[in-house]
Amino acid sequence: MRHFSARGQALAALLALLACDRLPGVPQRRPAQAQTPALQPLVAGPWLLDPEAGRMTVAWLTQTPSVGRVWYGTVSPDRLATEEGPAVMEHRVILGSLQPQTQYRYRVEGSDDVFVFTSAPQSGVEGPVEVLVYGDNRTNSGDHALVARSAAGEHAQLALHTGDMVVDANEPDLWRVWFQEEHDHLATTPLVPTVGNHEITDNGVAYAKYFQHRDRPAYWSLDYGPLHIDVLDSFETAAGATPHSAGVSDAQKAWFEEDLRKVPKDRHVWVLVHQGPYSHPAHVRPGHGGSEAVRSAIAVGRLVHPIEVVFAGHEHFYERGEIDGLQYFVLGGGGAPLEDPDPSFPGVQTAQKALSYAMVEVCGCHARGVVKDIAGKVIDSFRLATCAAPCGAPAQEVLPPLAALEVPDAGAGDAGQRRRGRRRSRAEETSDAGVTESPPQ
Ligand SMILES: [Fe+2]
Repeated sequence: MRHFSARGQALAALLALLACDRLPGVPQRRPAQAQTPALQPLVAGPWLLDPEAGRMTVAWLTQTPSVGRVWYGTVSPDRLATEEGPAVMEHRVILGSLQPQTQYRYRVEGSDDVFVFTSAPQSGVEGPVEVLVYGDNRTNSGDHALVARSAAGEHAQLALHTGDMVVDANEPDLWRVWFQEEHDHLATTPLVPTVGNHEITDNGVAYAKYFQHRDRPAYWSLDYGPLHIDVLDSFETAAGATPHSAGVSDAQKAWFEEDLRKVPKDRHVWVLVHQGPYSHPAHVRPGHGGSEAVRSAIAVGRLVHPIEVVFAGHEHFYERGEIDGLQYFVLGGGGAPLEDPDPSFPGVQTAQKALSYAMVEVCGCHARGVVKDIAGKVIDSFRLATCAAPCGAPAQEVLPPLAALEVPDAGAGDAGQRRRGRRRSRAEETSDAGVTESPPQ
């Protein structure tokens, strides 16, 4: 046992008092570190957005404002990215200088969890890339959770969401549940969503906070390896859309047309939109079925660049078809109360009432996929584009004969197309078989 003198004991008592959090009767000075926003635990997220070549955005929510920080790296999360601007509750941190098509680990300050994502490939790179397409989750006694769990198990590189995440965007509790059910999926797979009619029940406020680019419309496009994805807003409030009626402005149509003019001819162009050009419910409700506004926009776009496929939702079932040479999907089996499709309608190739999602693989000039139910059973398979050149084949093996290079070919004028072999759509194959295509609608 150590012994202290009376003077030593007094000094020890003073030191003990100084070490206390509170000195009786003495006003407290706050420690210097308490002046900065305290670490905030996450109340939702993280989720990934905007997977562009060389960068990825990490988003999450905190209860009170703070400045977000994310550590990330290929081996361990040892690089730091700090949020720009003032302290906020809806966080967006951009991870920059990423190597293409590379796995990264990341951790958000306020959480000990480390997640992994794959960075985007460079624009024009052949792939392969694996893309999940799903939507219409709503809030339906756990059915959305079942779809989200199955989707997470696919470990897709990119997820396209056809819209309608919650029944009422005004309800924070519904968003909280949605983010909980999507957590494992969206922490590792970047999400590219489109606005559903349920996302404008609050005039799009929550959607803008959680997913939309700051100060930009909800329609935009993304280059991702062999893909060019145009995200259209079929419920554009600026065009007078309401939760019960679609609307597409002339400004959006003009943007779409201009956007397509810049896309190389050999790129797979996909359109993601909530209410698609065609859908065939067995019992049509007001505001459902195909959208004339979207058909019109797509018809203009197809004059500029071939559109390989349109992915939509809005109806709570799965439908795949081809009308006027346009391949389209309705992928609305993401959890909302299921409805009956009408598979007998001309142009409908298959339709099922099932909780479901699509997985599409794209590599070079090939694009093919399957649709699965929540048990993992394949309920449909399809091919969107194909060509003679195998995916990933060395360039010298797929070069056309020299004579072919010397003859101008209006359909394969792009150098990339010559290198890879021209992609052929299902419409072209049908046309070759003697069936006359109708002009775009
Ligand atoms: Fe909808």
